[in-house]
Amino acid sequence: MNFEKFFDSCTPVEASAPGRVNLLGEHTDYNDGFVLPIATPMRTHVAVAPSRDDAFHFHSEDLDDTVVLGQRGRLASGFGRYIEGCIRMLEQSGHTVPPLRIYVRSTVPVGAGLSSSAALEVATLRALRTLLKLPLNDIDIARLAQKAEIVYAGVQCGIMDQMASSLCDASHMLFLDTHSLESQVLSLPSDCEVLVIDSGVARTLAASKYNERRAECETAARAMGLASLRELHHADLLNQVDEPYRRRARHVYFENARTARAAAGCSGAEFGQLMNESHASLRDDYEVSIPELDVLSQLMREAPGVLGARLTGAGFGGACVALCESGSAAAAGASVLSKYNTDGRRGRLLMPQTEQTGANT
Ligand code: GLA
Repeated sequence: MNFEKFFDSCTPVEASAPGRVNLLGEHTDYNDGFVLPIATPMRTHVAVAPSRDDAFHFHSEDLDDTVVLGQRGRLASGFGRYIEGCIRMLEQSGHTVPPLRIYVRSTVPVGAGLSSSAALEVATLRALRTLLKLPLNDIDIARLAQKAEIVYAGVQCGIMDQMASSLCDASHMLFLDTHSLESQVLSLPSDCEVLVIDSGVARTLAASKYNERRAECETAARAMGLASLRELHHADLLNQVDEPYRRRARHVYFENARTARAAAGCSGAEFGQLMNESHASLRDDYEVSIPELDVLSQLMREAPGVLGARLTGAGFGGACVALCESGSAAAAGASVLSKYNTDGRRGRLLMPQTEQTGANT
């Protein structure tokens, strides 16, 4: 099945959206806190046209998979679930969505913690906004995409990934207050660039442990009489909370402070230090790291030109991100991988893009 065959002679509406790499502010979004992501140059492209029958037809070029969905059907699994989630969320908000043909191709790696699902949701909603002339702004799209993820993928996620995919570009960071949804577009610290390496470990525990962490944060907030951990302004209040809830809340408290500090403007060296502290906190207090992410981020820290490194995304696998002096990321990545990829480990460079990682797509 290729694009021309799928759309026959009709011209589809096309849209795309990027993945994201979070630089600071991990596991803070569902606590109403701050995040600081940047878009990936890798994007998901969606083309959409009316169906020729009364069913929805979704095709993924990368998976070489087609799924067909009746108008009232429900998909059990796979890429179509995210698309279906977006369609159903539009319907629940009062929009009429006719049967459609939707074709997807993507260069955002799946399972690496770069939000391939948010990229698919946002690209789908952008294409539907244009096709159906829907009065939705970029924040509306992010909110609908987040609901699709919660209801259809079963992850009680915050709104960072969908806001990043909907609002970020690949050369700026987005400083987002996930409580008010106010945001600022910021430059990276001067003379710096981003390095991202996938650990090669799939994020198998991510969904169940993620939901568990979220519940633990809610317990901690309740114990301190707060509506959310965003309202925690004095670290001494943490003494009122039992373990492990105390260390979960401590991570969120200091991670918010680190993210606000970085967004206020700092040198690359200081930003890197904040990333190193974030990793230690995610490993020791939030307990979402795994040995491979600890090894990989440490190798990154030791590479020439690297200012700081940490796991990025939910944890339990996926990728690490580093801030590097401009011009040093590609060489640092190669040097890290030559050391990391022993004992059966299969890391791979995701950013900066090279021909192997799919540059210019
Ligand atoms: C996943 C979720 C986000 C966020 C991160 C952790 O990517 O989708 O909402 O919570 O984990 O920071």
